[in-house]
Amino acid sequence: MNRFTGKTVLITGGTSGMGLATAHRLITEGARVVITGRTRTRVDAAVHGLGPNASGVVADAADLGAVGALMETVRDRHGHLDSLFANAGTGTFLPFPMYPSAALSTAQAKALTGQIVAGRFGRPEEVAAAVAFLASSDASYINGQDLIIDGGLVGAVPV
Ligand SMILES: NC(=O)c1ccc[n+]([C@@H]2O[C@H](COP(=O)([O-])OP(=O)(O)OC[C@H]3O[C@@H](n4cnc5c(N)ncnc54)[C@H](OP(=O)(O)O)[C@@H]3O)[C@@H](O)[C@H]2O)c1
Repeated sequence: MNRFTGKTVLITGGTSGMGLATAHRLITEGARVVITGRTRTRVDAAVHGLGPNASGVVADAADLGAVGALMETVRDRHGHLDSLFANAGTGTFLPFPMYPSAALSTAQAKALTGQIVAGRFGRPEEVAAAVAFLASSDASYINGQDLIIDGGLVGAVPV
């Protein structure tokens, strides 16, 4: 599929995890992608891995001045922006289907995945696939919806 040919996409927090997986996915589908991160080293490493259709900007999402400068840079480089994935952030996610299973003991992982309908943790690529759909023309008649990507966890928890 080449749903993003000629499209420019900005992904904040594209140096690892879901942001980086989404950058890979969208480039595979033809996009030019701009990623951000807080350090030059990590941004450069990610851009190197993504290839010639990626570029990077060091911009802390918590710094309004940096965000303004980021948009100026994107405008200078590409003239316009087709999609934004506002992904930058940090946190501790327990229990949540994207939590890296390597950080858990076998018993902890079993207890957590037992609550998930899918029976396993999610992968960044699975989030990337959903982002690609929502950012594409395939979602042209979808507006203002929440798509919960959790392997069925929220729906399974009694309220
Ligand atoms: N994983 C989960 O289970 C889960 C659940 C709910 C929500 N989320 C949210 O989903 C997003 C991605 O999560 P992930 O698991 O893929 O995390 P991750 O692998 O730690 O990636 C986070 C990305 O955000 C960047 N970042 C963090 N703070 C930033 C800032 N102030 N300005 C610019 N970039 C910043 C990081 O870049 P540098 O470190 O290179 O600066 C990195 O590229 C985060 O916003 C997270 O809060 C994750």
